Amino acid sequence: MKKANVIDLAHNILLKHIKPHMTIVDATCGNGHDTLFLASRVEHVHAFDIQQEALDNTRSLTKDLDNITYHHTSHEHITKLISNYDGVIFNLGYLPKGDKSITTHHISTVNTLKSLHEKNQGFVLIVAYPGHTEGIIEQVALQSFLDKQDIKYEVIRLPHITKKDAPLIYFYTY
Ligand SMILES: C[S@@+](CC[C@H](N)C(=O)[O-])C[C@H]1O[C@@H](n2cnc3c(N)ncnc32)[C@H](O)[C@@H]1O
Repeated sequence: MKKANVIDLAHNILLKHIKPHMTIVDATCGNGHDTLFLASRVEHVHAFDIQQEALDNTRSLTKDLDNITYHHTSHEHITKLISNYDGVIFNLGYLPKGDKSITTHHISTVNTLKSLHEKNQGFVLIVAYPGHTEGIIEQVALQSFLDKQDIKYEVIRLPHITKKDAPLIYFYTY
């Protein structure tokens, strides 16, 4: 049997919340695996990334689908660019097999969560990786933002992982 990983777990959570008519935003499309997963199941996906390489990889992985809009910009612009969405997902960290110095950053991540909070729409799913230096800063910052807003979120980890720095998933709905 294939060993479950945090992405399988995130996708299983998404399966419980996405419906075919939905528009979902992939805030950090990276190599495109989450965009492909979503676009095969919902009406439309908006895929964001700040790296051209990530958008190229995502376009190539999703070349058979025509329900994706690609945005070469920071996820901080989501609420300015898209008025109606049903959910936003973040897979934080750096592009796998890419430049590890370009990673999501606590300031822009929390700014985006703030703008989504003001918009008050749909669900938010975040996969956070506290196992690297910026990753732990980001995870602490985002959790403290959610706590200050009194957002009722679930935190999910693979059941057999008890390591302190194992990836974790935040999920909440407005
Ligand atoms: C872990 S990867 C995402 C993996 C991807 N979801 C997949 O399925 O392959 C994180 C991505 O976030 C991107 N990123 C970093 N800061 C960003 C920002 N402010 N806005 C959008 N994307 C950002 C990076 O360029 C990187 O490609």
